Amino acid sequence: MFTKAIYATTLLSAFAVGAPAPQVPGYSDADFPVTVSQDTGAPATTFGPDSQVNAILTTPGTVAPLRRSSDLTGATSHGPFSGTATTTGAEQAPTTIGTVIAPLPPNPTATYYNADGKLQNPAPIPYTPAGGLGTNGTEPRYMVNSDFDYESIQLGLYQEWIELDLFNNGLAVFSEQDFLDAGLTAEDRSYIAFMAIQESGHATLLSNMLGESAAPQCTYDYPFTTVREFIDFNQKLTRWGESGVWGFINHLDSREVGQLLSQSIATEARQQMSFRQMLGLHPMPVWFETGIPQSWAWSYLAPYISSCPENTTRLAWQNFPALHVVNQANPNRFSPNDTADYEVTGNRTADPSKSTIPADESCVNLNVTGYACGPAIARNRSEPLSFPGKQVNLTWDVPGQAVGPNNSYVTSTSAGQPQFVAWVAQLNLTYTPLTLTGNNSGYTYQPASEVYEGDPALNGTAFIAITDSDLFLTPFNLSMINPHVVALGLYQAG
Ligand SMILES: *[C@@H]1O[C@H](CO)[C@@H](O)[C@H](O)[C@H]1NC(C)=O
Ligand SMILES: *[C@@H]1O[C@H](CO)[C@@H](O)[C@H](O)[C@H]1NC(C)=O
Ligand SMILES: *[C@@H]1O[C@H](CO)[C@@H](O)[C@H](O)[C@H]1NC(C)=O
Ligand SMILES: *[C@@H]1O[C@H](CO)[C@@H](O)[C@H](O)[C@H]1NC(C)=O
Ligand SMILES: *[C@@H]1O[C@H](CO)[C@@H](O)[C@H](O)[C@H]1NC(C)=O
Ligand SMILES: *[C@@H]1O[C@H](CO)[C@@H](O)[C@H](O)[C@H]1NC(C)=O
Ligand SMILES: *[C@@H]1O[C@H](CO)[C@@H](O)[C@H](O)[C@H]1NC(C)=O
Ligand SMILES: *[C@@H]1O[C@H](CO)[C@@H](O)[C@H](O)[C@H]1NC(C)=O
Ligand SMILES: *[C@@H]1O[C@H](CO)[C@@H](O)[C@H](O)[C@H]1NC(C)=O
Ligand SMILES: *[C@@H]1O[C@H](CO)[C@@H](O)[C@H](O)[C@H]1NC(C)=O
Ligand SMILES: *[C@@H]1O[C@H](CO)[C@@H](O)[C@H](O)[C@H]1NC(C)=O
Ligand SMILES: *[C@@H]1O[C@H](CO)[C@@H](O)[C@H](O)[C@H]1NC(C)=O
Repeated sequence: MFTKAIYATTLLSAFAVGAPAPQVPGYSDADFPVTVSQDTGAPATTFGPDSQVNAILTTPGTVAPLRRSSDLTGATSHGPFSGTATTTGAEQAPTTIGTVIAPLPPNPTATYYNADGKLQNPAPIPYTPAGGLGTNGTEPRYMVNSDFDYESIQLGLYQEWIELDLFNNGLAVFSEQDFLDAGLTAEDRSYIAFMAIQESGHATLLSNMLGESAAPQCTYDYPFTTVREFIDFNQKLTRWGESGVWGFINHLDSREVGQLLSQSIATEARQQMSFRQMLGLHPMPVWFETGIPQSWAWSYLAPYISSCPENTTRLAWQNFPALHVVNQANPNRFSPNDTADYEVTGNRTADPSKSTIPADESCVNLNVTGYACGPAIARNRSEPLSFPGKQVNLTWDVPGQAVGPNNSYVTSTSAGQPQFVAWVAQLNLTYTPLTLTGNNSGYTYQPASEVYEGDPALNGTAFIAITDSDLFLTPFNLSMINPHVVALGLYQAG
């Protein structure tokens, strides 16, 4: 309190003289003449009645469309699946034409270039430059328009359903006191409950764009035992949920579907950032968010779905074998270097880091700048979670394992010998050589590549794969990596 009071006084006197001192080194020209006087009186203690402003009585007018799911509260059934699968394998087309997509030269019509800043073509109407898709007056149709669209949105729907269940589940299984112990208040719980309700809207939207075969909600099996682990899992799950959409959204045939989907994924992006803040991580230690292929999002998600109702629409995407980061940095430690091997709650790829570590090794209840990791708008970490050059030890599962709803999908890979580690972060795909230490284990070193100068590519929750090649790919053709993926994991970089 003492330091806070001193700070406030200094600030006010700075305002009073009208020339704020430069706050940022090298930015000394801030001579905008500011003169304010601020009331220093006591804060309010009584509230209302307020001023009466002009208002009318109004109602929504039309009845809002019904949602496909109610607001769930309370615990629902969870846990691993123990029955026998009635079908196995991904949904398949009647015919499959090839095994890899062959590279092609650039599209011959992609030639537009504007050097003089002048409009190059006749404008259809005033103030409306020529071009764009869906701009010629055709009536929008908000429906998937290809198998690619259908499978992508169906995958998105599976993701929205787990989020609806997951956010509610954490609120149901942990008490208000459990949340307080993790630094999260009753208002934060209400916020998480609101995020769950957002998901019921997202699930309804995606269902409407699919039609009658839209998948229903399933039963799930979660990897957390504490509030911190719940938040960590949410932070990871929304990371691949968001990135999964960035990976396919611009490939959709239906621009209309892309329009509505982007307006829902903007909300998911905010959820991801909020969960990072609740975990005391930097809210967004990157300049760009990453896109990943659909089969990646499905590989991360499927292990947490234990069963789906009879006749649930199946997905066509691949399930890759799980890649385990042996020394995954634990965000609950003030000194992440001290993380023990396999310090995670289980062996599924996105399982959260254990929060049940000794109190004198934890950052959760610390009140020391640079070391604290309780909930906050932003945190500095004096000891980073990971850093370029860190040795990263990896193990991975063999293909052929049953995963996903009713254990009815099977992990697979078409890749050859494991040779590289692919790091997918921000706009970049970086490969590092993999040194094998066994048939299914090896190590590499975290790369230092930058997106643009001053922006190390690898930070936040990032994506990592073992590959058989170092094929050059960029964000719009990243899915061509799939035939080369041996195993797939998540990397907690910051
Ligand atoms: C954290 O430490 C600061 C400065 O020592 C102190 O003013 C503040 O009350 C502490 N906060 C908590 C929650 O203990
Ligand atoms: C209008 O644009 C769409 C693409 O957005 C195109 O498929 C369609 O052929 C165009 N219609 C006309 C009449 O030009
Ligand atoms: C990740 O971002 C955090 C916060 O800005 C920073 O402290 C850390 O050094 C970054 N890590 C890398 C590898 O650049
Ligand atoms: C999955 O298992 C559940 C519970 O045993 C069962 O009710 C359901 O019909 C199964 N779903 C499928 C798609 O086989
Ligand atoms: C599943 O589909 C079959 C075949 O269409 C149908 O006979 C059955 O009633 C459906 N089951 C449920 C629970 O909808
Ligand atoms: C963590 O390990 C790295 C690499 O050995 C080292 O440079 C760094 O100083 C260590 N951090 C601390 C806080 O000891
Ligand atoms: C993962 O852990 C579960 C439960 O501890 C175990 O049954 C399963 O065999 C493990 N899977 C692998 C691939 O190690
Ligand atoms: C937080 O970290 C930044 C660099 O990332 C540094 O410039 C700043 O001084 C740090 N702030 C505190 C309060 O430690
Ligand atoms: C990583 O693997 C190397 C080589 O097998 C080993 O020397 C090292 O101790 C391992 N590090 C960790 C943190 O497990
Ligand atoms: C590694 O793979 C080789 C060839 O497939 C096999 O002969 C060997 O037994 C495997 N080693 C282990 C430890 O699984
Ligand atoms: C990272 O991505 C940016 C933007 O696409 C690109 O300009 C840069 O060359 C890439 N860097 C590396 C190391 O691949
Ligand atoms: C992916 O796109 C980049 C251009 O951004 C191109 O250089 C590269 O060859 C493409 N990769 C494949 C495998 O087609």
